[in-house]
Amino acid sequence: MSLPPNFLEELRLRTPLAPLIGRGVKLARAGRQWRGCCPFHGEKSPSFYVYDDHYHCFGCGAHGDAIAYVMQSQGATFPEAVERLAAEAGLEVPKATPQQARREARQRDLHGVMQAAAEAFQRRLRLPEGRAGLDYLLRRGLSEETIRRFGLGWSGAGRGTLAADLKPLDIEVPQLVEAGLMRPGEGDSPPADLFFNRVMFPIRDRRGRIISFGGRVLGDAQPKYVNGPETELFSKRRNLYAADLAREAAFRGAPVLVVEGYMDVIALHQAGFGGAVAPLGTALTEEQLAELWRLSPQPLLCFDGDKAGARAAARAAELALPLLSPERSLGFVTLPPGEDPDTLVARGGPAAFRALLEAARPLSAVLYGMLAEKHPGTTPEARAALRHALEAAAGTIPDKFLAGEYRRTLLDTFFASGRRPAPAARQPWAPRGGAGAGRGGRPAAPALNLPRPGIDPGHVRQEQARCLLAITLAHPWLLGEVEEALASLELPGGMARGLQRAMLAWHGGAERLEAAALADHLEKTDPEGLAWLRHSPRMLPAAAREAALPQLVTQQWWYFFGRFRGEEALLAEREAAARDFAATGSEAAQTRLIRLNELLAAQRRGEMEEEGWGG
Ligand code: UTP
Ligand code: MN
Repeated sequence: MSLPPNFLEELRLRTPLAPLIGRGVKLARAGRQWRGCCPFHGEKSPSFYVYDDHYHCFGCGAHGDAIAYVMQSQGATFPEAVERLAAEAGLEVPKATPQQARREARQRDLHGVMQAAAEAFQRRLRLPEGRAGLDYLLRRGLSEETIRRFGLGWSGAGRGTLAADLKPLDIEVPQLVEAGLMRPGEGDSPPADLFFNRVMFPIRDRRGRIISFGGRVLGDAQPKYVNGPETELFSKRRNLYAADLAREAAFRGAPVLVVEGYMDVIALHQAGFGGAVAPLGTALTEEQLAELWRLSPQPLLCFDGDKAGARAAARAAELALPLLSPERSLGFVTLPPGEDPDTLVARGGPAAFRALLEAARPLSAVLYGMLAEKHPGTTPEARAALRHALEAAAGTIPDKFLAGEYRRTLLDTFFASGRRPAPAARQPWAPRGGAGAGRGGRPAAPALNLPRPGIDPGHVRQEQARCLLAITLAHPWLLGEVEEALASLELPGGMARGLQRAMLAWHGGAERLEAAALADHLEKTDPEGLAWLRHSPRMLPAAAREAALPQLVTQQWWYFFGRFRGEEALLAEREAAARDFAATGSEAAQTRLIRLNELLAAQRRGEMEEEGWGG
């Protein structure tokens, strides 16, 4: 359903938010906006704000307009939410063109055919001929409830069984062909059954309507699965197995997980992981990624622990990069070699799988590993090639700020890795056994035996401090907002600590919070420190430039702050900011609160836990 944009605008205009939200949430005036306890997470003190055109929770980050509110609070789809709000606002949702209407009617018919077929398959599973199939499913550990929940069935023996089953419902063979349940006849031969002697897995769309089937043989015969063909209803690349169930679970807070097989999904749901979905027998597509991001800002992709799994993970990472945004990321879970989720929960129970999820790696780490593997070696040439690849990868992210953060994170790891000698396996030319000659007759590189100029671990922390202070130097107005936070940091000794003290002291007495004034002051009191801040400006973040936009400046300042402080300190900082905002309603306090929330969310997603940063 595509709607004219001005219709949505009109709808939003005619739907004042406070009364809508006020029906379910007790709201009180707080200056120009309304405030109450957030309906999306349990809380006792109100941190949920309702503005004219949007709401925002400073506790959990829930955010959106009227349509989003109905979607979030009632688990409605976009069209459903629009329909409900339009009815209340006395607006009529614009009708589709006659063409579209005809197409929708045909699809409704096909959905009916699919539903009837699913019921026929389910009935057959309970007949004597379906006994073997039922036993097979039970033997694989599925409960009766799971079998019902997933609507599993038995195909029958073919030779027109399904057509005969559905004939009394006035469903004819051409419709079965159109629905992808029979293959069209070739030449003189009539259409034939696609599925016979198979356990049937209905495939549903996001809204729970059956759009195709997968059928599994009982034994080890090939092909193991037959899937329905592309039809008017079914697109392999656009759908995910169990998306309908996962959507519900995700609304209740379940993590969204992508696994490989139908049986993996079913086993995981039975073990309590209701957010599990699977692609439909192909590698993950762009459309499926978009679908996943509708369910969760950070779906977790599970891959086998073997080479093929690593390749699939790399492919997914590459696919995702140009689509990332601050609200759309990915986590990666690697299965133990030889296991799939089904066998893992069968042997280790839900706890075994939960432990894996907890060890999920952020996309940035996977990306680094993948590129480092592609560009191994420790020679300057090899390192430069890796660095190029890292920069290029970050460059494919369309969101400027996010690209900047990826670049920084990747390069942080890159520089941190420079101080460790790479593991021997990563140095294909290192002499093996016989001294003097490497593989392929190449002479062993003596350079490898020279002492490397070590990057001492403290250096990375010094650089972080330099970034933080350089941003402050370029934008002293920040001090109004970050003074307490800056004062609370234990910066490394040497230049950083002296500058920290000098800036705070200057702020106490400064008349104008201007970059030139602060620089003047430092020039007099700590010229060495100032020179240290200003050297190699290309290594500093964009926010350290005076022309940087304030939004970027605060964002990056808090980001570096976060790198010095653990989550606990961030939580305390956020609490203080929330108190400040409640008391003053000031924009500075609000910005600080929003940044801290983003920072916490990012940190919880594990985006900042890269090696080499310490702290
Ligand atoms: P798996 O072989 O991992 O499937 O293939 P599975 O679901 O774990 O099956 P069990 O445990 O052996 O019963 C992963 C997915 O690849 C597709 C299916 O979507 C399957 O779920 N596939 C596999 C096919 O489409 N055809 C095949 O012949 C095999
Ligand atoms: Mn399996």
